[in-house]
Amino acid sequence: MTRVVTLAHYYTQPEIQQMADKVGDSLELSLYAREAEADIIVFAGVRFMAETAKILNPNARVILPDAQSTCSLVTQTDVAALRRWRESYPDHVHVSYINSSAEHKALSDWIVTSRNVDDIIAHLYEQGQQVIFSPDRNMGAYLNFQYGYDMPLWSAVCEVHDKFNEAALKEAFAAVTGDKYLIAHPESPLPVLTGADYVGSTSGMLNWIKAYQGDAAAVIFVATEDGILYNMRLARPDLDIRQAPIYAGCQCNSCPYMKMNTIEAVKRAQAGQGLEIDYLTAEQMDDARLPIERMLEFSQRYYQ
Ligand code: 13P
Ligand code: SF4
Repeated sequence: MTRVVTLAHYYTQPEIQQMADKVGDSLELSLYAREAEADIIVFAGVRFMAETAKILNPNARVILPDAQSTCSLVTQTDVAALRRWRESYPDHVHVSYINSSAEHKALSDWIVTSRNVDDIIAHLYEQGQQVIFSPDRNMGAYLNFQYGYDMPLWSAVCEVHDKFNEAALKEAFAAVTGDKYLIAHPESPLPVLTGADYVGSTSGMLNWIKAYQGDAAAVIFVATEDGILYNMRLARPDLDIRQAPIYAGCQCNSCPYMKMNTIEAVKRAQAGQGLEIDYLTAEQMDDARLPIERMLEFSQRYYQ
């Protein structure tokens, strides 16, 4: 019998999450993918995530339900230009966010997710290394600001998180008379992040909500994709959790690529149809696996 394992990112619709064997953030899903005993891994997420799953579990067939599910951090990065940029810093360690193509990963020394980026870069600086960071400019700017680094940054953004707007947030805050909080994903713009009570990955924010002990009447604004609000409200139905606005009155910021994972597309993928990640060469996968494994090894050592 064909063993099919379905993985879904927190940003997919609730009905897609309910079809999955595992739901998680990028780091968790990479670890599940690597360990999955499966003939087929259906990845209800975006293409770079399915590529990562294939790189980590090359014997499984990995299928992305919709071939158009990309990510702006990937499409805004020209790999030939990235290679030239990387070559202009021969003495630096190149750290890349997991939201990158397989080719991009293969050019990198380390891959990070939003969950471990702070710790891995701190570890490199502690070792006396100099670091360049790609592709997320907002995340890099936040790290430089927060820790006083001077990392040269590649300049791409998440088209979803980049829309969170400081002025709209201030207005939304002003309209709340009681306690209010902002938690934010590090792909958001720096002025939003510097005003946040907590900055962290998708799972980090979910854990913050689960552990919240403050006034139950407080309003908690969340600057990230709307899919995770489902999980937050499920975990804490007692709290007033709202997506941060991108303009006055709008709680409407979702990732078009994640939402391409419709019920029909996921069902087709579970039957073996969709975009199969079968176009990466063994050499490309080997080169990309090295910096990913470095991250997974670091994460397992530090977080377990
Ligand atoms: P996480 O690493 O928090 O899962 O984020 C992935 C992502 O695509 C955020 O936009
Ligand atoms: Fe990419 Fe942004 Fe969508 Fe995440 S939310 S997959 S970073 S476009």
